[in-house]
Amino acid sequence: MKISGQLLILLVLLFLSVSPVKAQQSKQEIEKKIDALLASMTTEEKAGQMTQLTLDYVCKGNFFDDKKEMKIDPARLDSALLKYHVGSILNTGSYTLTRDNWYELITNIQQVATQKTRLKIPVLYGIDAIHGANYTVGATLFPQELAQAATWNTALVEQAGAVTAYEVRASAIPWNFSPVLDLGRQPLWSRFFETYGEDPYLVSLMGEACVKGYQGKDISNPEKVAACLKHYMGYSASVSGKDRTPIAISERMLREYYLVPFERAIKNGALTVMVNSGEINGTPVHIDHHLLTDILKTELKFEGFAVTDWEDIIFLTKRHRVAATYKDAIAMAINAGIDMSMVPLEVDFTKSLVELVKEGKIPMTRIDDAVRRILRVKYRLGLFEHPYYEKNSYKKFGSAEFTQINFQAASEAMTLLKNKDNILPLAKNKKILLTGAAAHSLTPLNGAWTHTWQGLAEKYNPKDKQTVYQALQAKLGAGNIVYVEGTTYDKDVNTTEAVKQAANVDYIVVCLAEKPGTEKDGDIHDLNLDKVQQEFVKALAKTGKPIVFVLAFDRPRLITEIEPLASGIVMAYLPGNEGGRAIADVLYGDVNPSGKLPFSYPKYPNALNTYDYKSTEDVSPGQYLGVDFLYPFGSGLSYTTFSYADLKLSTDKWNGKDSLTVSIKVTNTGNKEGKEVVQMYTRDEFASITPSVKRLKGFQKINLKVGESKVVTFKLHRKDLGFVNTANQWITEPGDFKVMIGDLSKGFLLQE
Ligand code: BGC
Repeated sequence: MKISGQLLILLVLLFLSVSPVKAQQSKQEIEKKIDALLASMTTEEKAGQMTQLTLDYVCKGNFFDDKKEMKIDPARLDSALLKYHVGSILNTGSYTLTRDNWYELITNIQQVATQKTRLKIPVLYGIDAIHGANYTVGATLFPQELAQAATWNTALVEQAGAVTAYEVRASAIPWNFSPVLDLGRQPLWSRFFETYGEDPYLVSLMGEACVKGYQGKDISNPEKVAACLKHYMGYSASVSGKDRTPIAISERMLREYYLVPFERAIKNGALTVMVNSGEINGTPVHIDHHLLTDILKTELKFEGFAVTDWEDIIFLTKRHRVAATYKDAIAMAINAGIDMSMVPLEVDFTKSLVELVKEGKIPMTRIDDAVRRILRVKYRLGLFEHPYYEKNSYKKFGSAEFTQINFQAASEAMTLLKNKDNILPLAKNKKILLTGAAAHSLTPLNGAWTHTWQGLAEKYNPKDKQTVYQALQAKLGAGNIVYVEGTTYDKDVNTTEAVKQAANVDYIVVCLAEKPGTEKDGDIHDLNLDKVQQEFVKALAKTGKPIVFVLAFDRPRLITEIEPLASGIVMAYLPGNEGGRAIADVLYGDVNPSGKLPFSYPKYPNALNTYDYKSTEDVSPGQYLGVDFLYPFGSGLSYTTFSYADLKLSTDKWNGKDSLTVSIKVTNTGNKEGKEVVQMYTRDEFASITPSVKRLKGFQKINLKVGESKVVTFKLHRKDLGFVNTANQWITEPGDFKVMIGDLSKGFLLQE
């Protein structure tokens, strides 16, 4: 066949546009550009790339002054970028900015970086947009991660990630310090709500979905941002539960649990990682060469860079006390594998780094590796060509389309924990008393990282988003609702008035709340819900009126004492700006709840088990004290009922090759359309490392009309049945296993 010249060119172009070789080549091209750039950089310029400062540093006024207006100080900006060659800036100062503010600040920064500096390297700006672009006025504020996990809907989490990326980029910011991939296995931890819950498999799938939403297939797309996986790793496992306190955990456990979500996200191309501020077994993670270099970079083949958390190199001297001087600390951290320091309030780091290189205490190869990784992220993001994009091209920012996705996420998160005598949904023509700290404020529905770091400033809440009270008024008309505040998080306001009003209503809806807080500010000594709120419920219960709880909590605050006083309980988590509407819709049946707990809800303050406990934790139940949850992991009721039947395995003697197919038939046996999360667990009957009673290995969320049945199929692979052995390697041992779905189970033998 003869091909004309033109056709040939067309075919080649077509081949290049669909062939994976193209991506490969462009990665190679990027590496070549980095080679050339690195070769022309001075040590000072390299140290600058490894430096990250906070926005306040380049703005007028004093650090952390909340009246300070975020306006660039040209002299400070020039000093940071021209004198110290700083490569990255973060944060928002102390309040939320408009898109106009962001554009003004960032275009200003990028103009200096790309026009006035010698090498014209753009600045990489980073922000904590952890549940939507929470530092941009008018952005779509999603449920926090824990609530997103409760949806068990990965497609929805990916959509939320994509909207977040769009709105962050619409604020001229290309890098998001999210998702948190720590495991929520220590309910006392102040950042529990920032996790996707306790199970490594669930967290991995949610993390993967989020990274796909943030980064997409092409990270240089103007609607995408670079993800930052936090906080590598083990941060959430502190013994005391207090923020940034010691962690005691074996490498075997780290690998079997805490590393898993990071590994999966990195396989999905996540471009950056932020390091855990804590210490594991006495070694601060910021100086742990084994974790940062051997595992993260060598074993996982991570191509991006590792940034410290806030001031963490300084804390090596001030808090951890493993280095006597700041300069020693810098050498320890950089040599261990830190690529960028979130310094972020001074440039002594940059100066010392240069000195350490000149003194031979940090090899130039290590510096070059760090800078290469940072430049790689800047190139892949397309920042050299587009340090920012046209502001007016982001027409969908804060749109109704995005609000709808947000509402769906909040609705699917709602988890119905109790529904005695089917008190819910409530009848629309009955009278209710609405009360409690979360009843008429968006603040406890959004939590920390909302408009401000701790999320407590009511004045920034948007007027066009509904509180629970406003959503109920819109639904029922004002006549059927009496609203009395009752209590704040920890203080009585007007309990007496609330109790008085309860006499005239049919139901009481109490929205219990946790005061927003994160990091050290969110530490607690006691997992029990604040006394004042518990006493309030007891006073209301004396009226004899049926009570429904709505729980707007950061973590499973204990309600064991007051739980019997409630007929209905809806776990709302921190459901975000559409939370008010979603709660109202669930209370009145306009949304059929489909959320499932992504953690085990404890019953007692000192019995904090996870669902995947070991058999020794529950020996002879009834005779000895064993595992006793208030509500188990994966639980959540619906306004309809589902039945499970026909659990089938493709074989009961499996040679471990290909996959084992598991199927189950699920039927909606109630009288309302609904969504069900079909969860598959496995149990290794005997193993050389004590096995858990069960582990989650698959789940699917399906929708079923009244009377409808669906057959749900899962595939199990040999490696899914594995665990980490004492040599810190994943292995799968042959033997007896069990598959469990709903209340059905079936055993099989994995052959040698
Ligand atoms: C937090 C991080 C956050 C960083 C930047 C730190 O204090 O631990 O999660 O990304 O601040 O704001």
